[in-house]
Amino acid sequence: MSGEAILPGDIARKVIDPHAYAEWDGLLDTFDHIRAATPVAKVQPDTPGLFDPFWLVTSYDDVMRISKDNAAFLNNPRPVVFSFNQAIEFSRAATGSNMLVDSLVVFDAPIHPKYRKLTQEWFMPRNLARLEDELRALAARTVDRMLENGSGEVDFVKEVSGPYPLRVVMQILGVPPEDEFRMQMLTQQLFGGQDKDLSGSGMDKMTPEQVVQIVAGAVKTFEDYFAGIAEDRRKHPTEDVASVIANALVDGQPLPPRDMAGYYIIVATAGHDTTSASTAGAMQALANDPEQWARVKADRSLLPGIVEEAIRWTSPVQHFMRTAAEDVELGGQQVKQGDWLMINYVAANHDPAQFPDPRRFDAARSPNRHLAFGAGAHQCLGLHLARLEMRILFEALLDRVASVEPAGEAKRASSTFVGGLKTLPLRVTAA
Ligand code: HEM
Repeated sequence: MSGEAILPGDIARKVIDPHAYAEWDGLLDTFDHIRAATPVAKVQPDTPGLFDPFWLVTSYDDVMRISKDNAAFLNNPRPVVFSFNQAIEFSRAATGSNMLVDSLVVFDAPIHPKYRKLTQEWFMPRNLARLEDELRALAARTVDRMLENGSGEVDFVKEVSGPYPLRVVMQILGVPPEDEFRMQMLTQQLFGGQDKDLSGSGMDKMTPEQVVQIVAGAVKTFEDYFAGIAEDRRKHPTEDVASVIANALVDGQPLPPRDMAGYYIIVATAGHDTTSASTAGAMQALANDPEQWARVKADRSLLPGIVEEAIRWTSPVQHFMRTAAEDVELGGQQVKQGDWLMINYVAANHDPAQFPDPRRFDAARSPNRHLAFGAGAHQCLGLHLARLEMRILFEALLDRVASVEPAGEAKRASSTFVGGLKTLPLRVTAA
């Protein structure tokens, strides 16, 4: 008897089943149940070899500890997102690496801090302030377009929370509007393949190998596309982040082509479905609570609290994986060097020990030290941009929309990695 806390098969299956993530309350029930009994618990496959066993970490304190201890818990060499063995083998055959893309999230020290430093300043509030006017104009256009639709019934995801963050990220990467749709399709092939509505290519019915083939194709297309942008920004640098990446030097050398492509891809993909999911969640919370809508309409100082709580409440990045660099005791379990761990942000951000009444959307929650952006060396590079974008969009909504209410069933994506609402039907009345 090893003494290890091993999750029973039926519960373990839910942790890795994309469809379980489409049903939010059920998912939170599962994590509550697991956390209460075994905050650090082993998930093993029913069929040997399907995937490598991993430790599921569901308590806030343990997720925080792992996130901050970047020497003991590495992002490399195992995949940084949960993957089946077949998919990992294909990735190795296709690229020679466990990961199809080499980017900030898969690097550890000493490379990671050098790469991170390249764009860190660009993503700080002082620099982002330059974007505010542009964001305000974009937010106003997006909301006006939604209101022009006439009937008053809108799918908020399709019309607002999807397109707005996509345009922001594409703009900072120098992608013109006409190429946006293609970029979105590619991102959804990378992240949304588990959901039949999001991948747009029947990927949910494919074998892991077929899925990885599509994903590898998407990566290649991204790489070729951004090579063109980088070349342009080397000749004609501007103030955008695309120019910073194109002209960056590490140890006196330009980034190797694969790393440069990886940098563009991580910014392109990390920045929109995530912000979209939190934006849709905030709007859902306000639509469900007319009093809160009225309160924030009258007092805009409540907006930052709403934005922050929406990010916790939705936790769009649902997990990342880490690999133990040493033997360590965690939550009463003996984690061995080389073990794989899933730090689950949804579970951590709904830990009642840290967040009283965690399923409640509480705009006045204080403190609200959530982990939706992670923590430690890899903490979200775009967190200030995400907050700024959301605040500016909600200012435009509060200016232009008199009232908002649910107009049908909101549906979540089936995805274990980046998740959130894929439709949010609302009835809106212009101010
Ligand atoms: C990393 C969440 C928006 C770019 C991360 C991580 C999380 C996260 C959980 C990993 C943190 C860790 O390992 O400790 C989110 C959420 C967002 C959001 C919830 C929106 C609500 C953005 C935006 C951008 C962005 C707008 C850029 C345009 C990145 C990058 C990384 C990252 C580049 C990798 C950082 C590194 O490994 O050093 N994000 N993100 N994210 N995010 Fe975000």
